[in-house]
Amino acid sequence: MLDTLDPADPDFARDPYPYYARLRTTGPAARVALANGTEAWLVTGYRQAREVLADPRFSNVPPRAAGRPKPDSPAQRARGCLARHMLNTDAPDHTRLRRLTTAAFTPRRVDALRPRIERLTAELVADVAAGLAREGTADLVDAFAFPLPVLVIGEVLGVPAADRADLRTWTYRVGSPADALPAGAVDEAWTSLHAYFTALIAHKRRIPGDDLFSALIHDAGEGGLDDGELLAMAFLLLFAGYETTMNLLASASLLLLTHPRELAAARRGGPGAWAAVAEEALRHASPLEGTTWRRTTEEVDLGEGVVLPADASVLVVLAAANRDPQAFAEPDAFRPARYAAAGERGGDGTGGKAGERAAPHAAFGHGPHFCLGSRLARLEAEVALPMLFGEGSRMPELSLAADPALLPYRPGLLVRGPRRLPVRATPPGSTRTG
Ligand code: HEM
Repeated sequence: MLDTLDPADPDFARDPYPYYARLRTTGPAARVALANGTEAWLVTGYRQAREVLADPRFSNVPPRAAGRPKPDSPAQRARGCLARHMLNTDAPDHTRLRRLTTAAFTPRRVDALRPRIERLTAELVADVAAGLAREGTADLVDAFAFPLPVLVIGEVLGVPAADRADLRTWTYRVGSPADALPAGAVDEAWTSLHAYFTALIAHKRRIPGDDLFSALIHDAGEGGLDDGELLAMAFLLLFAGYETTMNLLASASLLLLTHPRELAAARRGGPGAWAAVAEEALRHASPLEGTTWRRTTEEVDLGEGVVLPADASVLVVLAAANRDPQAFAEPDAFRPARYAAAGERGGDGTGGKAGERAAPHAAFGHGPHFCLGSRLARLEAEVALPMLFGEGSRMPELSLAADPALLPYRPGLLVRGPRRLPVRATPPGSTRTG
């Protein structure tokens, strides 16, 4: 009898870790039945997760409409078109699509965004502080974790700021299980996204800007992107660029608000300490719970008695791999010290032996599809966290204005993070508890 998993279950969405830990006791990958009637292999072991992501016997190309109706509705056509992006391809298509975008994400290009990110963050911090003074509480997701990455990626791509609220609604919907939303909402979102990007491409063809999207449209020489690929690329960069970073900022904030000792250590530690907080938040609360789906092109022996048959649907669960006790000491504990710089780590059971940095987490994936935006995401977190929580921040001292065990989480196996994060200003002189 197969284990059944309902990704839309709110309790599972809030805390999927006990389920994954239990699944891991049966082996590093296990076959489960999903509530929508399909069957899949979930990979929960750290070593096996990295092996699968680097192994060409696992294909990223979705099965050719197997069992699905022909794309005969506008929503199905829109979805099919936007899904033609690099995450859904294997080499050599993948190599070509990825090469076209890597120039925009070189360390030099990304680091050059720092002053702009600092300015956007300072403006948002001032807005949140003003809101707190006025209303008494604020939602850090709505007022901070969402707008910052969407402003940043919007700027990289050249998406007008006025459109960001619509884009947020649509991408939220297409990234959620359809049965967790009102009927028709997901279809409507696919159609709207397709229409939006079609219009944006037409606009940038007429009036190019100094942005990545204009460059992709106008540099389309030999080996460049056709119109369908452009649409899909725009969708991927937008979706991958902010849904994930929004959840990193929200989850890292929640972890700091509920771990006052770690917050105090970050304040004492300087820039390296905030980077370690971001790294540990990526491991502990992986913003992409699972990667995109893979399919075995032949039978694959993963070791430890697990043999995946050919043509199996496989999901690498990054959130589970990042809590594998074989790879991380005390995996459920939030301990930024395990990623602190050499010399600042102790042999205290938080990161292995004294002086040893913990294994790299798998939150940005591994292998040929390793996250293109990892440096940008890290930069945003390293700028944002001290501006929100650091000594001398213009933000008042914050505390949670809700029971953390009751916060609603995003449903589904793809993106994970709190949907709301109500905070209030802690009155001066009162001590925070966690
Ligand atoms: C905390 C934030 C982020 C996390 C946790 C994250 C995570 C990931 C992961 C796990 C993958 C691989 C998925 C797979 O193998 O199926 C990936 C791919 C990707 N990410 Fe990110 N990402 C983040 C931010 C960003 C940002 C800011 C961008 C910038 C636009 C970005 C762009 C991409 C792209 C384009 C890919 C596809 C790469 C390929 O197929 O070769 N990501 N990301």
